Amino acid sequence: MNGPYASIAGVGSELPARQVDNHHFAKYLDTSDEWIRKRTGIVRRHLADKDAKLCDLARPAAQKAIAAAGVTADQIDAIIVATTTPDRIFPATACLLQDALGVQGCPAFDVQAVCCGFLYALSCGEAMIRAERSSCALIVGADIFSRLVDWNDRSTCILFGDGAAAVVLKAAANPGIVALQLGAQGSSADILTAEGHPQRGEFCGKPVTRMDGQSVFTLATRAMIESSLAVCDQAAIKPDEIDWFVPHQANQRIISAVAQRLGIGKEKVVATIAEHGNTSAASIPLALDSIGEQIKSGDRVLMYAAGGGLTWGAALALVP
Ligand code: COA
Repeated sequence: MNGPYASIAGVGSELPARQVDNHHFAKYLDTSDEWIRKRTGIVRRHLADKDAKLCDLARPAAQKAIAAAGVTADQIDAIIVATTTPDRIFPATACLLQDALGVQGCPAFDVQAVCCGFLYALSCGEAMIRAERSSCALIVGADIFSRLVDWNDRSTCILFGDGAAAVVLKAAANPGIVALQLGAQGSSADILTAEGHPQRGEFCGKPVTRMDGQSVFTLATRAMIESSLAVCDQAAIKPDEIDWFVPHQANQRIISAVAQRLGIGKEKVVATIAEHGNTSAASIPLALDSIGEQIKSGDRVLMYAAGGGLTWGAALALVP
């Protein structure tokens, strides 16, 4: 296939100022810092204040990505926000963000694939660029997942954090997103879900996260391994030819199990879980931003995720 191709030109991120460590949970739940570290790898997470707006987190992340890409906001011609925790039922957070950035007229929409949302949004942006419907797309992964947490459920509340991160995808003559694969298995919807929906002015059901942790662990690990291998196959490369592995940050044990199965060394695996926890759609671009200084032109970056749905995906990017 010929160009235009889509290339990641800039990355930016934003975290809420407030950090909460594991000891906080041990004060009121039957848990401990030691258990959380050992079973998840999480040490602390950033949590947004109760009245915080997702758009207020997404805007500075987007502005940093725009500046890093060397473009201006008025050059952005598509805005896609991956989120499960939008500020409003509608309009989309992408529309609110468009206004906050002072951008006018371009398409703006949200994508909801929970922890895999960033890769789904990246795929939409890539497809728009390949189809010449965009030449400079802003792709944001942002979640205030703490909105969907039952703070008395020790098996889930310790896992999540809040954050936002963005990339600018630009049209390029050479391949940037080299390979991409997405999937879903709706029959596993109930193992990770936040039920509840609005009806006639009321909220029906409880809008908090419920999870069968062990099933998610098993299925997510398998899905990320298969998706990563599929993408390597598409690109005709072996996992050990990849420079950086940027996994969704859900559990250090999942990150390590996938890395071991792919046969890759720890030094290539980007892990921010200790500091961020699981930030859902923001997780991959936040991790990507954390290696901004170390990444070089020509590096191959494999991103992979799995989340509620069950959704999964992987994308291989070549650094321009
Ligand atoms: N502190 C102390 N004990 C806890 C605990 C906590 N925060 N959370 C659960 N436990 C307990 C359980 O109640 C259980 O007790 P029991 O044996 O008396 O019933 C015990 O620890 C073991 O529970 P289990 O679910 O087997 O633990 P685990 O090793 O599977 O770890 C998770 C639990 C949630 C950390 C792990 O399953 C996980 O990370 N799953 C994937 C989650 C995920 O990735 N979600 C998002 C996907 S995008």
